[in-house]
Amino acid sequence: MTTFAVIGAGPGLGAAVARRFGREGFDIALISRSQDRVEALAADLVGEGITARGFAADVRDPKALEGALEAAAASLGPIEVLQYSPVPHRDFMRPVLETAAADLLGPIEFSVYGPVSAVRQVLPGMRALGHGTVLFVNGGTAVVPHPDRAGTSIAFAAESAYGRLLHDTLAAEGIHVAQLIIPGAIVPGHRRKDPAVLADALWGLHQDRQGFRHFADDLDA
Ligand SMILES: NC(=O)c1ccc[n+]([C@@H]2O[C@H](COP(=O)([O-])OP(=O)(O)OC[C@H]3O[C@@H](n4cnc5c(N)ncnc54)[C@H](OP(=O)(O)O)[C@@H]3O)[C@@H](O)[C@H]2O)c1
Repeated sequence: MTTFAVIGAGPGLGAAVARRFGREGFDIALISRSQDRVEALAADLVGEGITARGFAADVRDPKALEGALEAAAASLGPIEVLQYSPVPHRDFMRPVLETAAADLLGPIEFSVYGPVSAVRQVLPGMRALGHGTVLFVNGGTAVVPHPDRAGTSIAFAAESAYGRLLHDTLAAEGIHVAQLIIPGAIVPGHRRKDPAVLADALWGLHQDRQGFRHFADDLDA
């Protein structure tokens, strides 16, 4: 059995996508900073008949993130699908003229060093399997930078560039890299932006394996 690992396994999109891939037969590795929270979510999934385990790591601590992914693969099985979707800290969203170089450290650690560390950790396993999927999830500022959210706008652009480079480089090896842009907010009950609907979209990206950037809704919605 192979594993779906979601980095940023919270109660919204993280839980929904874990359920979606779990229903398809994947074992589920849940990663966020709080061991208590990922264990509680894992217990919920186990109660629904899904094999799931929680692993604590802060994405801004590369060694901890690599260790969590290593432990997940060792205990559950090789990671075939990796989703990177931790929710960015509010502090990363400051007006551009109030953003100094030091204010970009957090966003860059979060959206660049974290993804690079995670991908490099799981790539050898995907190559050994001969296939794999990496899914990035970002807000609309990854596409249209917002002057009041400078940190995420700048760091999401870098994350997007990394993802697209991976997409172009790894396609020939059967490893598909895709990005889902969610314009505006995730809204429970929304036709396109309910967490379960977004989880279906992410499952579709894994299945269809076409192109890098996809939109969950119209950018101006
Ligand atoms: N919510 C929205 O309106 C919205 C809008 C557009 C795009 N998105 C995208 O959707 C994804 C998040 O979905 P969601 O908002 O429903 O969140 P969620 O899946 O409910 O939770 C995400 C989890 O990320 C974890 N996290 C935050 N900082 C972390 C860190 N430094 N290291 C490790 N884990 C961390 C938090 O858990 P801990 O506190 O336990 O670490 C949080 O529970 C992100 O990719 C975000 O860019 C969200």
